[in-house]
Amino acid sequence: MRTGIDGLGLAVPSLCIDLETLAKARGVAPAKYLDGLGTWRMGIAPIDEDTVTLAARAGHMALESTGTKEDDIGLLIVGTETAVDHSKPVASFVQGLLGIGRNCRVFETKHACYGGTAGLMMALDWIRSGSARGKKALVVCSDIARYGLKTAGEPTQGAGAVALVVSENPRLVELDPSQSGQYAIDVHDFWRPLYSKDAHVDGHYSVQCYLDALSGAYRHFQQLVPGVRASDCAALAYHVPYGKMARKAHRQVRAMDGDENPDASFDVQVGASLVLPAQVGNIYTGSLYLALASLLATSVKNLDGQQLGLFSYGSGSCAEFFVGTVVPGAQERVHALGLQAMLDRRRVLSFDEYEQVMKAREELDVRPVEQAVADDFRFLGVDSHRRTYVSPEA
Ligand code: HMG
Repeated sequence: MRTGIDGLGLAVPSLCIDLETLAKARGVAPAKYLDGLGTWRMGIAPIDEDTVTLAARAGHMALESTGTKEDDIGLLIVGTETAVDHSKPVASFVQGLLGIGRNCRVFETKHACYGGTAGLMMALDWIRSGSARGKKALVVCSDIARYGLKTAGEPTQGAGAVALVVSENPRLVELDPSQSGQYAIDVHDFWRPLYSKDAHVDGHYSVQCYLDALSGAYRHFQQLVPGVRASDCAALAYHVPYGKMARKAHRQVRAMDGDENPDASFDVQVGASLVLPAQVGNIYTGSLYLALASLLATSVKNLDGQQLGLFSYGSGSCAEFFVGTVVPGAQERVHALGLQAMLDRRRVLSFDEYEQVMKAREELDVRPVEQAVADDFRFLGVDSHRRTYVSPEA
């Protein structure tokens, strides 16, 4: 049975900030953020956008672009580490906003940035087991990455969602979940305590944990899938908290393959996967899939039938290295989504506006309901302890 990603949708917030602006305001050399971290812009969500609205928008685009009807979905999973409720999953809000049918499993998965990959692997197994009975899965990765103002993590924020339609006979990337290596270990590199909106992170340790997990997952992959090497893949996409992390990851994987000059292959194998992430920042669960979308949308190489290597990392930690095959025509399909144009439509904030939005978001979960124009999926506020949303008018 051929299974994999049939189509995708992307949502980014309507606002962003240039990291050069942030660097100057923080008294940091802009080159540290632009070259040292490899990101030049990051997405900032205004107060009427949250994990739910981003997920709904990405999901809507994925369904539309694949011609999938709401009743074709038998499994709806939202991977997130920016939940909006301890009990009610983001997936339930998304089900309601998208009108997904009722004969469906609907739930949320969490393991930091790995939560979306957990959902994807579960969806592939669900289809291959026969339980799907011809239905498709919608797996949405949605997050708002938030660190404290003036912390080292501040330039590695971002926000966005990537939705994946997972099915038989996929039109983008074929995936076999048995072609995958995993690595998990209990570490405290990055976490978000229940009492905090901001993530806590042991920054340099988290980089080391990511690299250790990459080694562990890739070693496991090599044991399970002998003869397939990252070096032989046409392209590689890594979890991208910031672009430089992907470069560190690439050096490590290629070195494990015995390459003495790993940087030489970086632009060819990884460059295209960083074009969109460098303009959005870290979107946590969706980060790897934004890198994959970027690769398919911007690579100048013909990837038809070519093998890709994919690495997902979630702090805490759990990681997975897996391979997929690009379905002929996938690049045209993703290119036609107009992802770069979507990023270009965002409004670029001044530094003062950025700080105002970040402060206003602290009160988001108790914000009284305000009416809004129903031009998109929007968060209106909280009424009688219930989060209230509006969908775009048909
Ligand atoms: P920092 O201490 O501010 O930065 O923190 P630094 O001193 O390490 O510098 C960063 C890079 O800029 C270095 O390059 C410098 O040399 C360079 P490297 O040595 O790494 O190659 N640099 C310059 N380059 C050019 N011109 C200059 C200049 N100055 C310095 N003038 C850190 C950086 C990433 C640690 C911080 O931003 C942070 O804590 N970020 C959040 C944590 C994070 O993103 N960790 C990544 C791995 S964990 C992960 O990916 C999981 C995660 O997504 C969460 C989840 O799973 O849910 C985060």
